[in-house]
Amino acid sequence: MDLHEALYTTRAMRRVKPDPIPDEVIRSMLDAAIRSPSGSNAQNWRWLTVADRATMHELGRLYSEAWVELNETIYRGKREQADASGDEASKRIYSSSQWLADNFGESPLVVLPYHRNDPSGASIYPGVWSLMLAARSHGVGTTMTTILGIFKQNEVAELLGVPLEKGWINAAAIPCGYPLGRWGLAKRASVQDVVYEERWGEGPDWVQDEPLWNPGE
Ligand SMILES: Cc1cc2nc3c(=O)[nH]c(=O)nc-3n(C[C@H](O)[C@H](O)[C@H](O)COP(=O)(O)O)c2cc1C
Repeated sequence: MDLHEALYTTRAMRRVKPDPIPDEVIRSMLDAAIRSPSGSNAQNWRWLTVADRATMHELGRLYSEAWVELNETIYRGKREQADASGDEASKRIYSSSQWLADNFGESPLVVLPYHRNDPSGASIYPGVWSLMLAARSHGVGTTMTTILGIFKQNEVAELLGVPLEKGWINAAAIPCGYPLGRWGLAKRASVQDVVYEERWGEGPDWVQDEPLWNPGE
């Protein structure tokens, strides 16, 4: 697959089929993930995969609870705001996030990256993105989620036997599966609206409203 196609169309693919992902595809995703850079090449990471049905259902239960907690705390009032403002993009994110919360336990695969001894906390994320890009190249959809780590770190660790006392920290839980919907270009603010040149606040003298890679081209 063309690198730019993967870069521009790797989306939060929350609605996926329960069909299993072949072992060789899972291996290819993980092998791509661990080729990514980390500070000092320390590779202070572990990549825990879960496909067992009973464990997945338990993870799904914890994810639903975390989703409720998110909506009662950090996201409190946000859904009502989105509904009242008629903001269609936010409403779509809520409805697909709700779908994931209701169906997380049916995911064919979840990858949970753990890291430790990394003061920046940044070393794990190139690998997470590489895993997601590699999945995309195999037609597998992924969603980076963090609410299990925020609200259910201990419960997930207990379920999966993660030795938190040795410093391991959950960075994400990435449900993976073959998409129910279609791949599409990620919608983002235009590049000139978020880029400064030389000094903070000084936008570039160019305008690039359309994505430079486009599936129509
Ligand atoms: C750091 C991070 C944390 C995220 N956590 C969650 C999450 O807990 N649950 C979820 O459904 N999506 C989560 N997402 C997915 C984002 O909501 C999604 O990437 C964003 O809305 C853009 O979607 P798009 O790429 O499909 O356009 C997370 C994404 C990132 C980068």
